[in-house]
Amino acid sequence: MSQVIAGTPLDGRVAVVTGASSGIGAATAERLAALGAKVAVAARRKENLDELAARITAAGGTALALPLDVTDRHAVTAAARRVAERLGRPDLVVSNAGVQLISPIEDLRVDDWQRQIDLNVTGVMNVLGAFVPHLVAAAAAGGPADLINTSSIAAARILEKFSVYSGTKAYLSHFSRLARVELGRKMVRVSAIEPGMVDTELPDHVTDPDASKLMADLLRDIECLSPADVAETIAFITVAPRHVNLSEITILPTAQAV
Ligand SMILES: NC(=O)c1ccc[n+]([C@@H]2O[C@H](COP(=O)([O-])OP(=O)(O)OC[C@H]3O[C@@H](n4cnc5c(N)ncnc54)[C@H](OP(=O)(O)O)[C@@H]3O)[C@@H](O)[C@H]2O)c1
Repeated sequence: MSQVIAGTPLDGRVAVVTGASSGIGAATAERLAALGAKVAVAARRKENLDELAARITAAGGTALALPLDVTDRHAVTAAARRVAERLGRPDLVVSNAGVQLISPIEDLRVDDWQRQIDLNVTGVMNVLGAFVPHLVAAAAAGGPADLINTSSIAAARILEKFSVYSGTKAYLSHFSRLARVELGRKMVRVSAIEPGMVDTELPDHVTDPDASKLMADLLRDIECLSPADVAETIAFITVAPRHVNLSEITILPTAQAV
């Protein structure tokens, strides 16, 4: 799937990718940069961001590392100002940082519940709040503008032990539909991408040993998507003509049943 799109169709665009220190976010940032966008990469692990920015620069691209925690609203607002100053007005935002901490409800892993809500819901809203004025301004100036949220197939499917994670992703998918009503008429495209199983660090953070084994078994049993597969799909959304909004995309490994 990787590298279906050719050339540098994103020349002149300024992208921001959150959760860019690993997995889908890192692959997406690298791909958007290869397609010509200047890319700001945000996450907490500064070393990973510095390495990614160095790789992008070495390949001839432009990257800005933004070490931050997206649950810190003020840090995200400051980062938006920094992107505008250093790279120009952002017109492509991939709100991708997220965590999946699955467990049975009755285990009452309330800290895990809170972490997922803080990052997958509040973090996304912090990013929206900081960048939506730039997206609206970019669209008003006549260019393309994209807000792309990484949701999950868990948003709609009934999966045991996924209740809080699924709830956060259901919020994100439905919020994306509603945001599109208001932003679409201003020519800002809003998209939710809903991947199935992707081979990333996501399952490594699960604190419940049984749920952790469940994830490891699922990942081992089939050929999963790679982060590059999802990155190319996100890139495809961004290179569509300005009047075309691929609003909801589900991407599954062929062998994934549910
Ligand atoms: N892998 C899958 O099967 C799958 C399926 C569907 C949807 N997704 C979604 O895809 C997105 C990316 O996940 P991934 O699979 O690529 O997993 P990943 O490799 O664990 O990536 C998660 C990213 O989020 C960042 N992050 C975590 N907490 C953060 C915080 N407080 N502030 C800023 N960044 C933070 C992490 O960086 P730091 O730790 O450096 O902050 C990391 O870069 C998530 O929203 C996930 O729910 C994944």
